Amino acid sequence: MPDRKGRLEGKVAIVTGAGSSGPGVGNGKAAAVLFAREGARVLLVDAVLERAEETLSMIAGEGGEASCFQANVINAGDCARMVDAAVERYGRLDILDNNVGISRRGTVVEVSEEDWDHVMAVNVKSIVLSSKYAIPRMIESGDGGCIINISSIAGLRAHSSTPYTASKAAVIGLTMSMAADHGPDGIRVNCIAPGLVYSPMVAPRMDDDLRRIRQNASPLRTEGDSWDIGYAALYLASDEARWVNGVTLPVDAGLTAVSPVTYQTLSQQQYQQPT
Ligand SMILES: NC(=O)c1ccc[n+]([C@@H]2O[C@H](COP(=O)([O-])OP(=O)(O)OC[C@H]3O[C@@H](n4cnc5c(N)ncnc54)[C@H](O)[C@@H]3O)[C@@H](O)[C@H]2O)c1
Repeated sequence: MPDRKGRLEGKVAIVTGAGSSGPGVGNGKAAAVLFAREGARVLLVDAVLERAEETLSMIAGEGGEASCFQANVINAGDCARMVDAAVERYGRLDILDNNVGISRRGTVVEVSEEDWDHVMAVNVKSIVLSSKYAIPRMIESGDGGCIINISSIAGLRAHSSTPYTASKAAVIGLTMSMAADHGPDGIRVNCIAPGLVYSPMVAPRMDDDLRRIRQNASPLRTEGDSWDIGYAALYLASDEARWVNGVTLPVDAGLTAVSPVTYQTLSQQQYQQPT
């Protein structure tokens, strides 16, 4: 059998929000671990260094190569230093996973100006700033590059949080615009819209009943986790996706493919039919 090379062998990746906000594995951590498993050297960026260090110990334990960098990606200076650090440590930059994101609840009537600005800064401006410094270095490396923006199905359908939905819809628009602008430089820009994933980010708000409701809402009727999102990021980061550009990929067990009212009604009728 020929030697199996990793799907990201020789590549250098930055993952923002590479730690997890609670125990377990979140979307950023899963992507970072999978990138490293497939041969990438990964800069693990997080505002909370200890969280990135947990991801590092997982990667190091598997024999992968990574290092931590503390940054708040809503600051231009931090984003510039983050990109410089990746290139100084590893010699090039190929992949940027813009994973950082937060939520604040509220309608337009309820949301404070401060919360609105903060969600927009963390979820949207961080992508602009990180990409602003990353793209020129990707171009320098001569092989193009790949950017993955993490949105949410909340960017495709109204959710229970106006600032979150608005910011995640902006990420989808940003993705298309970046893909159009930087495609000629060989830089692919794609987006993942995670569905109702059970992850450290949402776990504190979940009880068993809510988890079951979320699980049964989608056609697959199974619960997704952050590895599902990480594997989608891995595909988009790999050369297997070399002709995929400007797309938003829902990873949601089919939830956004269905019309809620008819789907729920038909499902109930189906359950009532004698077998
Ligand atoms: N159920 C879900 O988990 C779900 C569903 C849909 C979309 N998403 C999206 O997935 C992404 C995050 O997923 P996760 O599971 O990795 O989340 P997480 O909360 O577990 O981890 C995110 C990490 O980002 C870091 N962070 C937050 N703000 C930062 C900043 N300004 N600068 C640097 N680091 C910062 C945090 O310290 C944390 O370690 C977000 O964009 C989120 O909106 C998640």
